[in-house]
Amino acid sequence: MADTTNVLTLEHPILPVLTQRRSPRAYAEAPVPTEALHQVFAAASSAASCFGEQPWRYLVGARAEQPAAYDSILASLGEFNQVWANKAPVLAVSIAKLHFSHDANPNAWARHDVGQATATLAIQATELGLQIHQMAGFSPDKIRESFNIPADYEPVAVFTLGYPGDAATLPDGLREKETGPRVRKPLAEFMFEGSWPTAEGERYDQAPV
Ligand SMILES: Cc1cc2nc3c(=O)[nH]c(=O)nc-3n(C[C@H](O)[C@H](O)[C@H](O)COP(=O)(O)O)c2cc1C
Repeated sequence: MADTTNVLTLEHPILPVLTQRRSPRAYAEAPVPTEALHQVFAAASSAASCFGEQPWRYLVGARAEQPAAYDSILASLGEFNQVWANKAPVLAVSIAKLHFSHDANPNAWARHDVGQATATLAIQATELGLQIHQMAGFSPDKIRESFNIPADYEPVAVFTLGYPGDAATLPDGLREKETGPRVRKPLAEFMFEGSWPTAEGERYDQAPV
């Protein structure tokens, strides 16, 4: 069932599933069924990548099935993320392969491609009634150490996966954020049609409101 909490409203209509994707901190206890889990990660395969390299790798720890992996990923998170992420039934790490397989040259687009693979799997998750919440607040070194990640691979982000839960279960401070207004830059601040904006019209580098 689609998550209809805090749906995004934009100036122009977009695919409903894109407006329903969000990054919750409250998760239901229900585990992610194996088929749904595989569908979510399979969706990453559909993303484009430079030279078709598919430089993304995902370490997945489901609390019930891979408790040791789950605990290691959780332990890599900053405290501010652990407090809510520990309720999610699945934790995952996105990882980039930093050199091309065909010629061993550095792949400057590896993290870009990992990002778009993760964006794609996020949308598949939303379509299945699940949500992910990506986090930069983790220690790549802890992940590297816990899972013996080879040198050519770099942990990029950690994310939760699960069915969204009741915001009322969140600690103070996070509860309000869960359903607070979702603000996006207007189109004119990031879509420059025909030319880079002039100094007087320059609003593209302002911090988000
Ligand atoms: C690369 C990346 C890193 C993020 N890091 C964190 C984080 O460490 N902790 C957190 O609570 N949210 C984190 N977020 C979530 C963003 O704050 C969130 O995506 C943003 O506020 C937009 O909200 P929405 O995803 O619900 O639309 C991160 C998101 C991305 C894409």
